Amino acid sequence: MSIKKICCIGAGYVGGPTMAVIAQKCPDIQVTVVDLNESRIAAWNDENVENIPIYEPGLSEIVASCRGRNLFFSTEVDKAIDEADMIFISVNTPTKTYGVGKGMAADLKYIELCARQIARVAKNDKIVVEKSTLPVRTASAIKDILDHTGNGVQFQILSNPEFLAEGTAVADLLAPDRVLIGGDTTEEGQKAIQKLVAIYANWVPQEQILTTNVWSSELSKLTANAFLAQRVSSINAMSELCEKTGADVNEVAKAIGMDSRIGSKFLKSSVGFGGSCFQKDILNLVYIAKSYGLNEVADYWEQVIIMNDHQKRRFAKNIIQTLYNTVAGKKIAFLGWAFKKDTNDTRESAAIYVADDLLNERAEICVFDPKVSEDQIFFDLDYLETRTPAENKAGLQVDDNPYSAADKAHAIAVLTEWDEFKTYDWQRIYDNMLKPAFIFDGRNLLDKEALEKIGFVYQGIGS
Ligand code: NAD
Ligand code: UGA
Repeated sequence: MSIKKICCIGAGYVGGPTMAVIAQKCPDIQVTVVDLNESRIAAWNDENVENIPIYEPGLSEIVASCRGRNLFFSTEVDKAIDEADMIFISVNTPTKTYGVGKGMAADLKYIELCARQIARVAKNDKIVVEKSTLPVRTASAIKDILDHTGNGVQFQILSNPEFLAEGTAVADLLAPDRVLIGGDTTEEGQKAIQKLVAIYANWVPQEQILTTNVWSSELSKLTANAFLAQRVSSINAMSELCEKTGADVNEVAKAIGMDSRIGSKFLKSSVGFGGSCFQKDILNLVYIAKSYGLNEVADYWEQVIIMNDHQKRRFAKNIIQTLYNTVAGKKIAFLGWAFKKDTNDTRESAAIYVADDLLNERAEICVFDPKVSEDQIFFDLDYLETRTPAENKAGLQVDDNPYSAADKAHAIAVLTEWDEFKTYDWQRIYDNMLKPAFIFDGRNLLDKEALEKIGFVYQGIGS
């Protein structure tokens, strides 16, 4: 029997967009996305579809087309689990902040809670799909919990990691490079795999749907993120060498990227990668390697994070040095706070750490971001616990207009590569800044030559 009802636990950046696309492509399947967070569910159900809690280009249109038809958002977790043939677990798996593995291992408490809830509620056989990114061998822990319910219900556990990137989530989901599904090698396991394959086959070509054993699938997700982040840290390492030698990192990236063995993607030097996953997943990989005694493997991957931290810190340090070794009392305008363009997600954004360093030096920061709210910006800073919330409020302001954000500033720091920054009236911005007017372009986004012609002192990354 094919799947008729899907439940997805977790209505976040992955659960929401992924299920919206499944609902759009599979009109015969009823998809219910559940979450404990009532305000998040209320936002997904907001009459005005522009108010859904996640900003992704194209997402509100898809939600509008399916919501109330075969796509539902609800806080009734038990009900949705009970009714579903297939349950996706798409909850957060953050880095542990306590106990064994603190600061390294993935915190699996939300995953375990889901497994226990499914075990408690399920009355008929179900396929449970790991959509969250998990340490290799988590499926065996989930299976252990589910197999000890004593109520005779049979569970199959699949691993189906998500590879979407924020800002391009919808495009990535509609045309994925591949879909990866791992399952048991038993006959029952293979049948479960085929049921999930059949769902994706509604829009993904069969040859792009890969099936593997569960462990390969779980580990492939961590590996993919580690490789992607490693490329960014590698090019960022070269950016520092470029600055010392007169080479230009953009030219170096182009030259090496044309080698088809290297490829041109993910070679954009920046103020450092952010986002909820790269750091978390590499730390997790490092922890797993260490737990098997593979210290060289662990050290190798840890260096990717060390390099990234260095890149963020050296960006802030360069601002301070260039502004004559003091930023105390100087206004610095931040363009961008999100960890990349086209998203309102700020988790682990480099902007947070650069702001923290500059606030330590008593700079006065004024932030403009087209999609990030003031509350979120203060939440991010307060979360670091470097200062009291009152001190953060005293040192940083948020402006909803880029021109007033830059008014009377000593410097502008570009932290996110929002396209609109390129189209600003830079002459007008220059005229209202203090001179010399500095721009620190952490994304190599702006037109250096044009800005220098206006009179700006421009510094990008890696040249
Ligand atoms: P998120 O924090 O945006 O969403 C997770 C949601 O799960 C939250 O709304 C939370 O309230 C809910 N939740 C937690 N425990 C719950 C429970 N017991 N019952 C019901 N709801 C519960 O997280 P996310 O960014 O969507 O990431 C989810 C997973 O997907 C993570 O493992 C992440 O590594 C992985 N992932 C994320 C991305 C991305 O781009 N964000 C991409 C690929 C994979
Ligand atoms: C990343 C992966 O690209 C996804 O495949 C994966 O599913 C996801 O993590 C996840 O597991 O969460 P995401 O973090 O949303 O996606 O965005 P990316 O496009 O990978 O960018 C991550 C960070 O690296 C951003 O801060 C970005 O600005 C930075 N970056 C990216 C660079 O500095 N240079 C580059 O060349 C590319």
